[in-house]
Amino acid sequence: MLKAKNILIGISGSIAAYKIPILVRLLRKAGANVQIVMTEAAKDFVTPLTLSTVSNRPVSSIAFDKNTGEWDSHVELGRWADLFLMAPLSANTMAKMAAGIADNHLLTTYLSARSKVMFAPAMDLDMYKHPSTSRNIEQLKQWGHIIIEPTEGELASGLCGMGRMEEPEVIFDKINDFFNKKTPLTDKKVLISAGPTYESIDPVRFIGNHSSGKMGYAIAEAIADKGAEVFLVSGPVNITPADSISKVVNITTAEQMYDACNDISAEMDIIIMTAAVADFAPADIAEQKIKKGNSIPKIELKPTKDILLSLGKRKKDNQILIGFALETNNEIENAIIKLENKNLDLIVLNSMQDKGAGFGHSTNQITLIDKDKHPQSFPLKTKVEVAKDIVEKIETLI
Ligand code: CTP
Repeated sequence: MLKAKNILIGISGSIAAYKIPILVRLLRKAGANVQIVMTEAAKDFVTPLTLSTVSNRPVSSIAFDKNTGEWDSHVELGRWADLFLMAPLSANTMAKMAAGIADNHLLTTYLSARSKVMFAPAMDLDMYKHPSTSRNIEQLKQWGHIIIEPTEGELASGLCGMGRMEEPEVIFDKINDFFNKKTPLTDKKVLISAGPTYESIDPVRFIGNHSSGKMGYAIAEAIADKGAEVFLVSGPVNITPADSISKVVNITTAEQMYDACNDISAEMDIIIMTAAVADFAPADIAEQKIKKGNSIPKIELKPTKDILLSLGKRKKDNQILIGFALETNNEIENAIIKLENKNLDLIVLNSMQDKGAGFGHSTNQITLIDKDKHPQSFPLKTKVEVAKDIVEKIETLI
């Protein structure tokens, strides 16, 4: 079931590195391609020769080989991977990952990787309990990395406690589950719109909004991780979509987003409109740049089409339609009105009253309201965590 999956294993300096050749053999037997990237410190615990033999590929540990003159591209390695497993992950390398430090080949590869990251910490009891380690683990989890928790037992130091890296067979099972687990979202077709739309005034100016697209992209990735086929229709944003997203259509205006969504909506099982679509666009777009004359120009606006409303009118049986509502006052009442008017199954409410919620932030605070109209409020969380809450709720609606 792991046939032809590309698995990159990053090894850092820990005694548990001796378990990795066994893991590599299990993965290769299951049909996966395995590439090892290791730090210099890791070579004290397991030899590159052993690893290149079991993986059947040369081990990568330096960006540039002075002897052969060959360049080993961390960017290509990062993109090759379907999964990047950091195991064993030492306290030192974990801290550098959390801080964005890139002072070796393993770390530059990590920073370039677009695939999902799993990590298996391995260290001594007290290092594991240190607050800095807990903080770094939290940081990696917040970025959506999957932890393979260490177990309790006898450690190389002679101490007994938490910090032992999981056994290779258990890590193998977790990788297998990651690729093969069936979830209610597996094989579902999901359309997600994200980001703002820009409505041109003249060739250089537009009407836009502060949406960063972070929430929509986080939901798209979380849903793709559940095995769904994700179609993302995105306004202008500064985010690289995860490789797991099946198709990305980039648009600029509300009209283009309307067309892109409507082209494929009939085939979709679930549609999630997170986009901050402009409600108004200039009635006419000036062909030339509007000059500063004596008078101040008056820009006449026309309404754009409400995409969600049109999707709600044409909703098929069994199709799940989800909208967002950004409100400043009477939040719950207004969100329920939108839920009903647009024929939605779920609405995700953001209140501009909540600090750290809404546009631009990396955090968000949401209230979910489904057809039962019982608001379910969540605390302030990162957008990656909020995406997980929304995806869990969607799974209950399927
Ligand atoms: N939406 C849409 N097309 C539009 C405007 C909004 O599909 N032209 C969608 C948004 O993606 C969101 C939902 O409708 O999922 C609600 O958007 P919001 O701006 O909060 O509400 P509006 O319906 O535009 O109403 P108002 O601005 O009056 O609050």
